[in-house]
Amino acid sequence: MTDESPARTVEEVLRREGPIKVLTRRVTEDHERHGQSIRAGERVLLILHPANHDPSMFPALDVLDVAWPDQPAHVGFGHGAHFCIGAQLARSQARVALPRVLSTSSPICDWPAQ
Ligand code: HEM
Repeated sequence: MTDESPARTVEEVLRREGPIKVLTRRVTEDHERHGQSIRAGERVLLILHPANHDPSMFPALDVLDVAWPDQPAHVGFGHGAHFCIGAQLARSQARVALPRVLSTSSPICDWPAQ
């Protein structure tokens, strides 16, 4: 185990199975995206799971790789103007909690209790 393991694991879990699945937006300007027209006033669903499993970004799609040294940025906390304001708090809490939970309750993890 390295000091970075909990941090990488948190990012990898958020990428693979983050709790926020879908965001919604109301479009304010007409757009063309990948040959599709989106008109001002329409509502769109932004589905995070496929974005976090984009094979051009994440080649090891269905592998939970906690040793990935240069994991590309995922969108588990959103992106852009409304990026999660609590992301750093959530990350720091998860990095402390995850090893403790796994070391006390999971037979598949050998992280020592903190
Ligand atoms: C694992 C934990 C969390 C996840 C996965 C998460 C995820 C997200 C996502 C995906 C968004 C973007 C929403 C959008 O674009 O419409 C968001 C926004 C937001 N999050 Fe979180 N969040 C987490 C924890 C927190 C915490 C701990 C706080 C506060 C202490 C927080 C406060 C907010 C706020 C205020 C926004 C709205 C930001 C804005 O619209 O400018 N989140 N979060």
